[in-house]
Formats: sequence, C-alpha cells, structure tokens
Amino acid sequence: MSPTKPPGLDNYIQVSRHCLLKLYGEITFDLFTVPRGTHHTGEPVLLVRRNCMLSNIRNIIADSGFEDFYIKKADQKNFHHLIENFIGMTIDDQQMPLAEKAKIIYNCAANVMQDFFADPRSGENLTRAQHMTSNIIQFALTDPASIPSLLKLSSHDYYTFTHCLNVAVFSIGLWQAIYPHRQDSLQQFALGCILHDIGKSRIDDAILNKPGKLTGDEFAVMKKHPQYGYELMADGVSDISLDVILHHHEKHDGKGYPEGLKGDRISDIARMAAIADVYDALTTKRAYAEARDPFKAMLTMKEEMVGHFEQEKFISFIHLLSGRSSPPQVHKKQA
Ligand SMILES: [Fe+2]
Ligand SMILES: [Fe+2]
Repeated sequence: MSPTKPPGLDNYIQVSRHCLLKLYGEITFDLFTVPRGTHHTGEPVLLVRRNCMLSNIRNIIADSGFEDFYIKKADQKNFHHLIENFIGMTIDDQQMPLAEKAKIIYNCAANVMQDFFADPRSGENLTRAQHMTSNIIQFALTDPASIPSLLKLSSHDYYTFTHCLNVAVFSIGLWQAIYPHRQDSLQQFALGCILHDIGKSRIDDAILNKPGKLTGDEFAVMKKHPQYGYELMADGVSDISLDVILHHHEKHDGKGYPEGLKGDRISDIARMAAIADVYDALTTKRAYAEARDPFKAMLTMKEEMVGHFEQEKFISFIHLLSGRSSPPQVHKKQA
C-alpha cells in the first residue's frame, strides 16, 4: 500500500497485486504500474492493455518485480464488476490481510448498490445485491474484526447507495451482537437493510440533495420513500426484507412514518435497522449538515431523539460501536 498518493496518481486507483494474481477472465481495464524510484513523482506507465486474459498476463504481473498496480478511475466500475465474481474466493483467501479483503468487498458492494439505484427494477441487479449481501454476511461470520474493518471504509460523503451499504453493515454487526447464535432470517434482514432506501430512487434529486431544510411539502414527498421502496421490491424480496424497507422510519414512541407504529408493533428487525439508519446518516456529511463524530452522534441519538429507539437495542448498538461485546438481550418470561 502506498502511504500517500503522488500527484501523478490523482486519476488512478490502486489495485491489489495479490488480487490480480488470483483472478481469471478478461480484463476490461488498462493496467498501470509505477516503476521503482519514480514512485513519489512519476506518472504511471501502461503495463498491460485491456481485453487480455488474466491467465495470459499473470506471469507479467508476478515476474515484473512491481508491487503497485493501478487502473484509471474511469475504469473502476469495470474492475469491481470483474472481481464481484470472485468475492467468495477472496473471503476464503487465507493469505490476504483482512483490511485488504474488506476494501475489496466494500468497494464491490458499493458498485453493486450504485447500479441498483440506477436501475432498481433490474432482476440482474437484485441478484447481484442478494449475492453481495450473502458475501458480507459470510465475511462477518469468518472473523469478528470483519464488521469494524468494513465500517472503517464507510464513506463520510453521503450517497444513498453507500448509506444503504453502511446501514447493512451496521445492522449485521448489531444482529450478531444481539443474536450471536442465530442466523435464520439474517440474510433477509440484511437484504432489507441494503435496500432500505431504494424508494429514494423515485424521489427528485432536488429534494434528496437540497442543501437546506425541506419545506413541509418537500418533506411529505420524502416521507413516501418507504412506501415507494415497498412497491418497487414487493415482487422481488421476502416479507422480512419488505418489513425493513417499509418500517425503518417508524419510531418507538409511535411518532414515525409511514404507519406511526408504536413499541412492540414495530418488529425487532425494523427497530434494529432504524438505529443503524439514523447513526449512519448523522455520521455522514450531508448537503445540509456536517458529519458528526461517532460520540456526538450517539449523544444526539440519546439526548435529542428520546423515544425514537428501543433502549435495549440502542444500548447493544453503543456496545457494538465501542467494541465491547453486548450482553445478550434478556427476554422477560411470560407470567
Ligand atoms: Fe429512509
Ligand atoms: Fe436510510
């Protein structure tokens, strides 16, 4: 990994040598390197032109002596699309450091979600999102450090598609903290989380990205996104996923939307998603607000959002963020 990116690399992103050596298929991007000794000043030089089979160039990569490989930013979608098919192999790779795996998985998942938001009716995009969700869960199950390593990568600039991904990662972590031995429904819950704001794809950008406070009418439009999401996904995902999509803005005190459900009438999974959703929104830079640091975000949720969240799950979330293991939730016995 290069510590700081030299100016000549502004339009490039670094790709993993280890990853390039493991993949196969056709590369749909030009591959560059920076010769030794020129790393801090030099422009990358073209090593392999696109449309080659990786199997044919593996020796060039392995024998070149170069450690750092780059692709143009304009090609990053092509790169992420290629490695999407190898995520399972990446997760199982014993030699790849966890942080490197996390970066590959996060960037690939962000790419999938960007495509999903561009075309939420595409069956192929839904399949890709389902596949990525399974991979994130698989990654989370392999090592307790996986979720923190993914969260470190979460973008501080707000995009709806990365927000959805972040909420899914937080929610999987929260699920594991609350239900350490339960995996049934986790996939469907996580899929609901990764798709939770898909209804925003039907909301005008002028409202979504408005730099100031929304007017009453604009907020009324914004509040339709859970219902829009439900309608978009009704034929494609399970009731569990739909529950998250429709109810992630319900509040424990009944003052949420769209249905104003209160307390136990909100499912456990919708309550979990609601916490992750607000936390990620607060810690991300928005058009109308700077990102809060994690401590201030937790304080805001605790003191300024009284009644919004179920306390037990909120405490589990605080434990998750502080790296402490959460005490299992005690369910009261029926009298
Ligand atoms: Fe939402
Ligand atoms: Fe959200």
